[in-house]
Order: sequence, then C-alpha cells, then structure tokens
Amino acid sequence: MNKLKTVIAAGGLGTRLQGFRGNESTKILLEVDGTPMIVRQIEQLSSWGLTEFIIITNPAFDKLIREVIISYFPEKNINFTIQHEQKGISHALMCAKEFINPGDSVFFILGDNFFEYNPIMNLKINELMKSRGAYIFSYKVNNPEEFGVAELDSNNNVVSIEEKPKNPKSNNAVVGVYVYDDTVMKKIETLKPSARGEYEVTDLNNLYILEGTCKNITLNGWWIDAGTPDRILELESKLS
Ligand code: G1P
Repeated sequence: MNKLKTVIAAGGLGTRLQGFRGNESTKILLEVDGTPMIVRQIEQLSSWGLTEFIIITNPAFDKLIREVIISYFPEKNINFTIQHEQKGISHALMCAKEFINPGDSVFFILGDNFFEYNPIMNLKINELMKSRGAYIFSYKVNNPEEFGVAELDSNNNVVSIEEKPKNPKSNNAVVGVYVYDDTVMKKIETLKPSARGEYEVTDLNNLYILEGTCKNITLNGWWIDAGTPDRILELESKLS
C-alpha cells in the first residue's frame, strides 16, 4: 500500500541559537514556551493529520533527542536515523532512504518551520499519496535574499528557484516544507555539492522543475523559520 511518510530534518546544530537561554545542545530541543521545539513540531504535524514519522537526528544528540521524543509520545509510530555529516538538507533527506518504499510519497519538513495554517489543508492526504512530482510552498516576504526564492509564472507554476540570491527575482520565499514522489532519492543521488559544499534542497526542487512536475502553493497566515533568537521570541508570541 502506498503511504505518505513524514520526514523531519532535526539534525542541524543551530549555530545561531548556541548560548540562547543557556542552550548548549541542539536547537531542536530548545524550549519554545516551555516545550521542546521538536515536540511542538510533532504536535503541529499530527494536527495536520500526518503520521509515520522519520526523524533525522545529529550524531552528538541522537540519544537525547530520542529520549525526549519517546517520553512525550510513547504511542506514536516514530523512526529515527542519524545524519552523520552536515552536508545539507537534501543530504539529510537521503538519510531516510531505507524508510521510503516504491510508491510512497514524502512529506519533508525542516524541524524549525512553524505555520499558522496547515500548508496542505487544500490537498487531500489520499491525493498526495498518489500525486507525481513535487509541491513547494511559498510565502511573500520582505527579505527574500535570506531564503530559497521562487520565480512563478502567471499561472502560479514554478519557473525557477534560486538559493539565497543577491538579486531575488521575486519576494516568494520557499518555506521549509516539501512534498515529493518516490523518485526523490534517485534525484538526490544525482546532485552535486553547491559552492558552500552542501547538497541543496533548492537543487533537488530544480530537478522537478526541469521535469515540469513542480507545483507551487502560496501560503496565507504566518510562517516562522525559528532559527534565530528573534524568531523564537516571535514564535512564542504567536503561540501564546
Ligand atoms: C533553508 C533552505 C531555503 C529555505 C529555508 C526555509 O535555508 O535552504 O531554501 O527557504 O530553509 O526555512 P536555511 O534556513 O537552512 O538557511
């Protein structure tokens, strides 16, 4: 049976959050309004109807992350896998390869991305399980140069995505949520490291664009990539 597998990237160390509130471990365990970020992430995903979680961890904090998650969610179906080297977001997703079977679809989220509304609320989970290609989700921002930036045509189709461009072609930031079909791992295997030495999620998305199978959904409501102290405080104010 085809399934929708949910992969959470939780392997980043979060260098911009080291020392914040005494944090010396990983940002994913940092408390957001009293609850570890990864626990809030699993709650968010569960409220969107997602199940079958695969969590990509960091070798230094794998044991701790597992203990925290299992203590909060003893009943949930959660698998863990370690990203041994920090080689980028596509590389992190590749670490979940053993859990993705032919015919499965993949819902991939960066662990520090939080949303006011469910990004897939207009897509039925049953449909996602059968869909071919990829979905990206974009959001209008004033500082697109800090993100992946999508150029869209008049029909809202994705023409190109550039990673943190100096001269962005639009103000559509690509948020850290992606839906992929079962060709995703094969595509990642063909990627080359970028100038900063990472296997970029933007390069993966561009392979789907080349194929003509990358769809965009423009989001409403707030979106926070909680990777800095300011954004953690902003997230807390939105959640309270
Ligand atoms: C990553 C991606 C970028 C995306 C962003 C969303 O950037 O590389 O394309 O727009 O996540 O949160 P990072 O936050 O890792 O610099």
